Amino acid sequence: MAEFKISKRLLSCAELITPGVKIADIGTDHAHIPIWLSINNKISHALACDIRMGPLENAIKNIKHFSMEKMVETRLSDGLENVGPEEADEIIIAGMGGNMISNILEKCLWENKSEKKFILQPMKYESKLRLYLASRGYEIKSEKAVVCAKKIYTIIVSVFTGIPYQISTLQKYIGKIHEHITPESKLYIKKQIKSLKNMEKGAIAKKDLIEKTKYESTIEQLESILKSKMER
Ligand SMILES: C[S@@+](CC[C@H](N)C(=O)[O-])C[C@H]1O[C@@H](n2cnc3c(N)ncnc32)[C@H](O)[C@@H]1O
Repeated sequence: MAEFKISKRLLSCAELITPGVKIADIGTDHAHIPIWLSINNKISHALACDIRMGPLENAIKNIKHFSMEKMVETRLSDGLENVGPEEADEIIIAGMGGNMISNILEKCLWENKSEKKFILQPMKYESKLRLYLASRGYEIKSEKAVVCAKKIYTIIVSVFTGIPYQISTLQKYIGKIHEHITPESKLYIKKQIKSLKNMEKGAIAKKDLIEKTKYESTIEQLESILKSKMER
């Protein structure tokens, strides 16, 4: 069998899956995660889902190439629309913007959502995703920063409780990334500081002192977290 290559970003998502479960990979494209999990005997079944036939054809080709047809099923589906709750214990939604991931979760009306684990990997707008998760009662259990092709991403592990909660500005920007001290989590915090500094500049240009002070205070908190981490 040909060697199967998976990016560090997708491998990091796959490694968060609980051994032996059934998974659904939403927006699967080439089905890299389901194939890697199947080849490595990590799951009992995978649904590789995509909203478009083109990506699904990539998935079908790859699944066939690695002889994983018995383990990985493909399905045309807008988010989880054509996936039954009994078909997946854990759901991966990776490689999309935070808004798109929120839309997919919003449209998921499963009654037993609280028994599921959601592994979410936004490419951008992760702060918006964290706000959405809080407003809809998706608890963030953990976050992991990953560096891939010189870019830094977060992977959010979430469970649905149905109990909405408030998040601080700090949590909006870094979630739970600082709970695990790694070189990647430090880089993620630095990236957020850089982006907040740009937003602060924007607020200064607009002479919006309230916004400026808000950004300034969050930057200070992040720098202090970073400093305490550097000292360890
Ligand atoms: C950039 S690719 C990401 C592929 C892979 N998950 C990754 O992280 O590398 C995004 C994929 O999501 C699919 N997609 C976008 N919106 C979707 C939706 N609502 N439901 C299912 N798939 C969707 C697109 O067709 C595309 O194949």
